[in-house]
Amino acid sequence: MSDFQLEILVKLNDLGTIESTLKVFPQVDPQTVLSALNSLKAHAKLDYSKQDRTYYTLTKEGDEIVSKGSHEMRLLQLVNKFSKLQIKDVATHMGADGKIGQAKAFKNGWISKNKDNELTVSDKVSSIDDVVDETKNVLLQIQQGQFDSVDDKTLNDLKKRKLIAVKKETSFKVTKGPDFSTELTKLETDLTADMVASSTYKDLKFKPYNFNSEGILPESGALHPLSKVREEFRQIFFSMGFKEMPSNQYVDTGFWNFDALYVPQQHPARDLQDTFYLKDPLQSDLPDDKEYLENIKAVHEQGKYDSIGYRYNWKPEESQKLVLRTHTTAISAHMLKKLAEDPKPTRLFSIDRVFRNEAVDATHLAEFHQVEGVLADYNITLGDLIQFMEGFFEKMGVTGLRFKPTYNPYTEPSMEIFSWHEGLGKWVEIGNSGMFRPEMLEPMGLPPNMRVLGWGLSLERPTMIKYGVQNIRELLGHKVSLDFIETNPAARLDEDLYE
Ligand code: PHE
Repeated sequence: MSDFQLEILVKLNDLGTIESTLKVFPQVDPQTVLSALNSLKAHAKLDYSKQDRTYYTLTKEGDEIVSKGSHEMRLLQLVNKFSKLQIKDVATHMGADGKIGQAKAFKNGWISKNKDNELTVSDKVSSIDDVVDETKNVLLQIQQGQFDSVDDKTLNDLKKRKLIAVKKETSFKVTKGPDFSTELTKLETDLTADMVASSTYKDLKFKPYNFNSEGILPESGALHPLSKVREEFRQIFFSMGFKEMPSNQYVDTGFWNFDALYVPQQHPARDLQDTFYLKDPLQSDLPDDKEYLENIKAVHEQGKYDSIGYRYNWKPEESQKLVLRTHTTAISAHMLKKLAEDPKPTRLFSIDRVFRNEAVDATHLAEFHQVEGVLADYNITLGDLIQFMEGFFEKMGVTGLRFKPTYNPYTEPSMEIFSWHEGLGKWVEIGNSGMFRPEMLEPMGLPPNMRVLGWGLSLERPTMIKYGVQNIRELLGHKVSLDFIETNPAARLDEDLYE
């Protein structure tokens, strides 16, 4: 039991009832009083009731009126002194108070104005000594604590004039409880097996349950928003019959990241400025399939499969360099090569990390996640790609797509996918897509009439839109707040992802 709790019990013992804790313990703040009362009440030592009281104090201006008289009274005295006072001269005598005084004095019928804008004492006032300064009187009354006799309208008016301030005080009336004493027995919180076995529980006092207590929030793990949105995409893919590609290989050879995709060795994307190359180990082996390698070399150097190629000397060493994959299309290439062993209609997807040697800013990181799908089937066309894209994005709540021709070394035709952004009021690019080129597919051994369409988008962009994140560094990297991860919703009710 705290000293203060004991003090309360002793006072209660002396007084029988504590009418007002504020009067008995004026120095103790109400919150401390309340928590002491609550714990004593839990032991049935006492009962209490809360007594809130509203009272009023005079502001500095209110005090001034009590000593000098109200604005209106001072104005009346001024008008009386000058017998005729020009309205414009009121301010020189009374400053800003003049305006209020004038308005109130008119309202009270104390003064009148003639056609020359001069103020005179009204005919109704026979002697100004008889005029009662109501405002001053009522303030005096309030100063003395007699606000019960002042009506609400007057109080409101004084509040508006900033002459009085409203104060609240909390006090408690305390009475003895059923188990009142000035001592406190420790209450048991748990019924133990020992107490039951020894029957001591019969004489023990137990702490009552506090059903109002909020309890401690259970600690739990939280999924990162990117993981949540990733899961949503996975479910869309699964619902459309896609299988997930193994995407845990962050490091790949230039061969799979570029050459297999018909990206020429002098392409700017292969530059150190755009791609992270590994120092150690510097390189790795090329695929064992010699025929495939021959085909890639041929298609790059002089062309094959009705293509004229790029006409340069293809160097296997360049292909062997190890890179942090710049796109998940490297995985798609591996998988399509496998598909050539037993070509059949196939749908595959991956959602994983890629790396680009880019300057980091509010919308770019050196690593991000790509969502990628590939769909292989016989004799499919660009029309199928457009139709499929519309169905896929509709599942994300994105409709009304537009397509714009673009260039990728590995697809032809290629299309950027745009969606109308309500917030920005413009079309924004949401993905890239295309039909993989024969120069990529036929060296693998896929039949010429098997077409493969593919598309990719970033996982970060839709996540930022869904979770209202402006800066990508708040989503990924060392600046991410753990609180943001732990408190963001598991489910959202978003209508249009890109709106
Ligand atoms: N690899 C492309 C990118 O990084 C996306 C893409 C994948 C485009 C498949 C066409 C086909 O943007």
